[in-house]
Amino acid sequence: MGREHTNIEYRDVCFEYVKNVPVLKNINLRIKQGETVALVGNSGGGKTTIVNLLPRFYDIKSGSITIDGIDIRDYTLHSLRQNIAVVFQDNFLFSGTIRDNILLGNENATDDQINQAVKMAYLDEFIATLKDGLNTQIGERGILLSGGQKQRVAIARAFLKDAPIIILDEATSALDNKAEAIVQKAIDNLMQDKTVFVIAHRLSTVKNADKIAVINGGELVELGTHEDLMSIENGHYKTLYEMQFKKQETNA
Ligand SMILES: Nc1ncnc2c1ncn2[C@@H]1O[C@H](COP(=O)(O)OP(=O)(O)O)[C@@H](O)[C@H]1O
Ligand SMILES: [Mg+2]
Repeated sequence: MGREHTNIEYRDVCFEYVKNVPVLKNINLRIKQGETVALVGNSGGGKTTIVNLLPRFYDIKSGSITIDGIDIRDYTLHSLRQNIAVVFQDNFLFSGTIRDNILLGNENATDDQINQAVKMAYLDEFIATLKDGLNTQIGERGILLSGGQKQRVAIARAFLKDAPIIILDEATSALDNKAEAIVQKAIDNLMQDKTVFVIAHRLSTVKNADKIAVINGGELVELGTHEDLMSIENGHYKTLYEMQFKKQETNA
């Protein structure tokens, strides 16, 4: 798969986890290389499902998903997943060193590349406080990382992977405000020049996206920029904004 062109297209995508219980209904969505699309909508609407179809954690029922015009089922799983980095709310860290956990992004990375990833993920200052630095064990016998530190390890891993497509699914949702601020800065670094799917509760992330897709009940009900969608009277996004996002503006 080429690294320069990552135009992604969902065409009439239908999906169900359980037979005859439709979860996604005719999703049509195009994302150009370098664009950020924010998925918003009610809980249980299907946002996570939409992004999980791209690395083929599940396969669609009908329709197609293409990258650069090629059906994702025609890439090898390895090649497909090599090109997508995912950061969830809760990421898999194993009990080894911080270095080992970051190297999962690219086991052939050089020390320079690791240090650069650590810096971009805002982990350098924290690691400098550890006696064993990157070689510190995490898990049972080592130190326990805070939620924000774990997220930044996951982000450093994604940096090392250097995939052109990034999926961020509620990556800052479980954090307190202070931890969120620094994780968000790391995420802003990670998103540079990438094609990004972001599921976020943070207004500024959503507002700055090139496109906002509102997903309700398994359907794409609105698609456009913040301004586009705010101009729809009684629209889904506008309603969501009034309920969920507006109070953040006064705190921001
Ligand atoms: N692994 C699964 N098995 C069965 N149903 C699932 C599974 N994951 C999610 N669902 C269902 O699919 C729907 C969409 O869920 P999800 O994509 O997680 O929504 P969102 O991310 O918007 O909250 C929900 O009804 C949810 O209960
Ligand atoms: Mg979700």
